[in-house]
Amino acid sequence: MAHSDLTHSDPLWYKDAIIYELHVRAFYDSNGDGIGDFPGLTQKLDYLQDLGVTALWLLPFYPSPLRDDGYDVADYQNVHPAYGTLDDFQRFMQAAHARGLRVITELVANHTSDQHPWFQAARRSKPGAPARDFYVWSDTEQRYAGTPIIFRDVETSNWTWDSVAEAYYWHRFFAQQPDLNYANPLVLDAMLQTMRFWLDLGVDGFRLDAIPYLCEREGTDNANLPETHTILKAMRRFLDQHYENRMLLAEVTQTPADIRAYFGADDECHMAYHFPLVPRLFLALYQEDRTPITDMLQQTPALPYNSQWGFFLRNHDAMGVQMLTEAELQLLYQAYAPEPGMLLHAEIRRRLAPLAHGHLGRLQLLHSLLLSLPGTPILYYGDEIGMGDNVFLDDRAGVRTPMQWSGDRNAGFSRAESPRLYAPAIMDPIYGYQVINVESQKRDPASLLRWMKRMLALRKQHKVFGRGEMTLLQPHNRAILAYIRHDATDTILVVANLSSQPQRVELDLTAYTGRVPREILGKGEAPPIETGPYALTLGPYACSWLRL
Ligand code: NOJ
Repeated sequence: MAHSDLTHSDPLWYKDAIIYELHVRAFYDSNGDGIGDFPGLTQKLDYLQDLGVTALWLLPFYPSPLRDDGYDVADYQNVHPAYGTLDDFQRFMQAAHARGLRVITELVANHTSDQHPWFQAARRSKPGAPARDFYVWSDTEQRYAGTPIIFRDVETSNWTWDSVAEAYYWHRFFAQQPDLNYANPLVLDAMLQTMRFWLDLGVDGFRLDAIPYLCEREGTDNANLPETHTILKAMRRFLDQHYENRMLLAEVTQTPADIRAYFGADDECHMAYHFPLVPRLFLALYQEDRTPITDMLQQTPALPYNSQWGFFLRNHDAMGVQMLTEAELQLLYQAYAPEPGMLLHAEIRRRLAPLAHGHLGRLQLLHSLLLSLPGTPILYYGDEIGMGDNVFLDDRAGVRTPMQWSGDRNAGFSRAESPRLYAPAIMDPIYGYQVINVESQKRDPASLLRWMKRMLALRKQHKVFGRGEMTLLQPHNRAILAYIRHDATDTILVVANLSSQPQRVELDLTAYTGRVPREILGKGEAPPIETGPYALTLGPYACSWLRL
């Protein structure tokens, strides 16, 4: 597909998308310096196209001291020299678009690095000067008291003293990430220019990092303020006025009701992640009971037609534990973070495969749900082969290790001497690259990778998954999660067994009497639906997609 085909196609492309999240640094090293780069990623586009994803979300690749792995941006309009040049980025964009792959990049709008020239100018300017006003300053640490600290294992205050400015500056994340001051209209102007820069290079969407915290006001908890929504509406207006077919994806880690506000009346973000569902998927699997999932889906508000949830199983951060009761939290920890090193700020810093205990059936079940829930699925690089993690690395680095391409040295990721790698490849006997890698899974017809490829192809054949409605069924057996996805042309029944034992279930399908359900994977026919309960037996962790 040519570049122009993409840009002139459906403005709702993100509803049919399958997004693949990756870090350029972790994907493929083309020049042997131990760090992944844009030419390397470009070489691996054939793999991504073949896998069947349709959009790539790139973690921050801008110049940065990397205190927060690039979420501390020192220059919004360039590429980190270790990852290549702007020319390399443009070549990558062209190659991605030529394969029909969209590109979503990060707009880290809430804060910069303390090395950003704006901050360096601000700290040296007099109070009240326009340059100073790019950030939020105070003479005391008492301002905005009561605002939660997010990285609370590292930071003890949202204020840090700057001896050059002789004042405290405000930061919601690491002290090296001063928050921008959106009360100053010049900040929004500067951010719109940043958007323009990347949109002009063809970027299809932005992930809006940490947007609940853009604005501050005394007497509040400084999240989700109406002022913040005003800024987002201005960003959306700018996008709509100047560009077509672009998308804004909100990172809001709060309740579904809070998240809902970021879609506005279809005048803020197009997409938002569904954070609170994630721990509930794992809880339900552990308890072999669908209730945590169905409760959350029932609390999830309906969206305007153009809006879309983004679903994921794991990402580059630790797994959040939003909205869990203390008892649920303890269960989750017991099941998924049995060792102290597995927690980070109360969140679980592990990858998908170890969370599923490396069990193929569990991994397939989780992906079957991800790909059939009402939203757009987002895969995290390496999860398609069941990559492991390294809890002995700091912070979140253990889930950001080199992509495992083969059993060769450095997992086939880089020709560098191993100690030069930006992070060691996973080498343990269960998840190490000699066992888990793309090359061997390509050859093995029973591999997770081959199965993923088939499932992604199926998902793409049925628009109902991305666009249709969902009706939850309430069978008596709570080990079974069942729902119907439907639109004007398609009706698909999804039945999942969350348990490690075979389960029998009776479904109320009387609305579909006379129809003959057909497996869409494998095409097998099930008995016709008659009046009365429809009985099915599912093997351990089985998930069926049946077309009615
Ligand atoms: C959310 C990002 O996902 C996370 O990795 C980062 O540390 C914070 N925002 C701060 O930018």
